[in-house]
Amino acid sequence: MAHLIAPSILAADFANLQRDIEMINKSEADWFHIDVMDGVFVPNISFGMPVISAIKKHAKKPMDVHLMIVNPDKYIGVFKKVGADILTVHYEVCQNLHRTIQAIHNEGMKAGVSLNPHTPVAVLEDVIQDLDLVLIMSVNPGFGGQSFIENTYKKIIQLRDLINKSGSGAMIEVDGGVNNINAPKLIAAGADVLVAGSFVFKSDVPKDTIEKLKTFKE
Ligand code: DX5
Ligand code: ZN
Repeated sequence: MAHLIAPSILAADFANLQRDIEMINKSEADWFHIDVMDGVFVPNISFGMPVISAIKKHAKKPMDVHLMIVNPDKYIGVFKKVGADILTVHYEVCQNLHRTIQAIHNEGMKAGVSLNPHTPVAVLEDVIQDLDLVLIMSVNPGFGGQSFIENTYKKIIQLRDLINKSGSGAMIEVDGGVNNINAPKLIAAGADVLVAGSFVFKSDVPKDTIEKLKTFKE
């Protein structure tokens, strides 16, 4: 399967959000990556429901919502209502992860679990069968524009092995510090989806940068 690209809206120009959404619609991007931060699980606050609803009005591609919040269970139904297609929670905040995954599925969304850089892949051994996506953080969550952590390659290889052995259909998504140098290596290691924020939106022509990440052409 060809890999997917999910530009992170966190790095868009919020005063020109519709323009940036239309750019993604017209680009070779596959998903919208939407980062929700609560200032508790991570030391930053991003945006919430009204902004996600506004994005949904214009977005013509699936909405991949990454929750960096405590108590995600409280809001699963609301995220479905505002337009999430894929809902990803953090392993580190879920006391009853299997129940959370079931609740996401019951709302008709695809379920993802994200791992912080310090969380080993092996913790997913008993839920991997139930997951549609695993999001490997390649930076500490909370901010765009950070440097990629090299240990990520090892984790992708371990996760690919776990998925193959279990027969799970989960996709592997990588988030943080993705650029044109590490993108081909991430795909070679076994990643299916690349999230990219700063590398896309801080470039001269974001639409062309998305195409480069999609095709690996310079
Ligand atoms: C970080 C977020 C990322 C972030 C990626 O906590 O989850 O999705 O927007 O941004 P870049 O690509 O700039 O590292
Ligand atoms: Zn993210």
